[in-house]
Amino acid sequence: MVKFEDIKGFVFDLDGVIADTSVYHSKAWHQLADELGVAWSDDLAENLKGVGRMDSLNLILKTGGKENAYTEEEKEKYAAKKNTNYLSLLKNMNASAILPGISDFLKTLEEHDYRLSLASASKNSPLVLEQLGLAKYFEKRVDPTTLKHGKPDPEIFARGAEVLGYKPEECIGIEDAKVGVESINAAGETSVGIGDPKILHEADINFTDTTQLTLANIKAAMEVGEH
Ligand code: BG6
Ligand code: MG
Repeated sequence: MVKFEDIKGFVFDLDGVIADTSVYHSKAWHQLADELGVAWSDDLAENLKGVGRMDSLNLILKTGGKENAYTEEEKEKYAAKKNTNYLSLLKNMNASAILPGISDFLKTLEEHDYRLSLASASKNSPLVLEQLGLAKYFEKRVDPTTLKHGKPDPEIFARGAEVLGYKPEECIGIEDAKVGVESINAAGETSVGIGDPKILHEADINFTDTTQLTLANIKAAMEVGEH
């Protein structure tokens, strides 16, 4: 692992790291899976984390053995329907959806002059950040519509470092999705996984929830990793 002192930037995932929105994504996909007659499961919900909109729909259809059941046009309609449902769940969302400890963590990073960027696959991330009142922290963002590949490809996290003007090894990436941790690792950044360590076992550092996500805990974990 690189040294804590060499870290200059933090590249954040959004859904499930900054805010509780992955629950809303899941709810909206679950609703659509029911409509499509695809059985919902915890595994499917886990596998959808971090995956872009159309890739998520394709994964749901594949899981139900229905990958060839719909035309591209029909699939576009279903993906749009999921998004409409997702947006209606977001309607009354405010700063109370920020996950515990995140506001303090962002403040601390700012006070210590770290640069921050956003590496979310979600096209709704500008809206979500506005509603949470956190847009000011993320002037630097990767626009997911400009990417060729989704997570676990390293592209999004590599760009997250690039928009900060830093090398990947000078950045820490933070993720709640297995594919997200894989993307951070493949980009050559230090990965922090938030969630079940069994699922996120590839992360350099693991915290079971965001209350543990502090600069002091990251420093301590990286120092242990050095020996
Ligand atoms: C990721 C979420 O951040 O964004 C996924 O983890 C979601 O659940 C993906 O499908 C795409 O989001 P959107 O808002 O563009 O449909
Ligand atoms: Mg996420």
